[in-house]
Amino acid sequence: MRKGIVLAGGSGSRLQPITLPVCKQLLPIYDKPLVYYGLSVLMLAGIRQIMVISTPADTPRFRALLGDGISLGMQLSYAAQAEPKGIAQAFLIAEAFLAGDPAALILGDNIFFGGGLSEHLRNAVGRKAGASIFAYRVSDPERYGVVQIAAGGHALNLEEKPRSPKSDFAVTGLYFYDNQVVEVARSIRPSERGELEITDVNKHYLERGLLNVEVLGRGFAWLDAGTERSMLDAANFVATVEQRQGLRIGCIEEVAFRMGWIDGDQLLRLAAAYPTSGYGNYLRQIANREKV
Ligand code: G1P
Repeated sequence: MRKGIVLAGGSGSRLQPITLPVCKQLLPIYDKPLVYYGLSVLMLAGIRQIMVISTPADTPRFRALLGDGISLGMQLSYAAQAEPKGIAQAFLIAEAFLAGDPAALILGDNIFFGGGLSEHLRNAVGRKAGASIFAYRVSDPERYGVVQIAAGGHALNLEEKPRSPKSDFAVTGLYFYDNQVVEVARSIRPSERGELEITDVNKHYLERGLLNVEVLGRGFAWLDAGTERSMLDAANFVATVEQRQGLRIGCIEEVAFRMGWIDGDQLLRLAAAYPTSGYGNYLRQIANREKV
């Protein structure tokens, strides 16, 4: 059974002083904590066993927010990353949890939105061997991992924050791996910035011809909320789409319901915890409208 990791660590230095009392991934993006968006993506991929990794100070706060997951028909667990030593370190921290199973990892500050996301996720889930990454065209590729994609769609080259990017395709913070990933993470060495780079894990798969790229086209939004401005932009984006459609993005209770992990009565019970909020009203509306 594939397992998931939400990595929600980091110092949030670019958002200080907002991140002094609470980490970035627990801050709101409009109507819900940022971490809901990433968590809901792993859920849409059908992953029910998920470990949230955060700083020693914030891990208890994630537990307070999300609990053991049972009410969502899931199993959620928590682990601390003592120091921010890189994304790939998550696989070493989660080794016992993964217990030799294939894995997916999402960065807890990434937001994905767009029709057809589930299909891309299904493609990645369906691959038994190798790794899958998700590429997205951006105007500032030098800020990210960058992938050069061949005409046939496979990856040619990967670079972490290159000064002269070979393409405009950023590697997003969502990754799927086969059950070799812990071994691969163990084999890589820290980069100049002292981190175990996820790009080095991906390069390992690339060199063996085992790296697949799902390209998220122009109909998608991939947002991160790493700066004060991008946080506001993400919140405005979510508010605009939610207001227009009357549907909420990244609503974990709704996803659990639509995945068939909980029924309408269970959804109503979750909604009862939020008797006066718009978010709670939305859960009640779905449960009452679509109850079977
Ligand atoms: C990390 C990865 C980078 C990726 C990005 C996506 O960057 O190293 O390859 O493109 O996440 O958000 P970091 O957040 O460590 O700067």
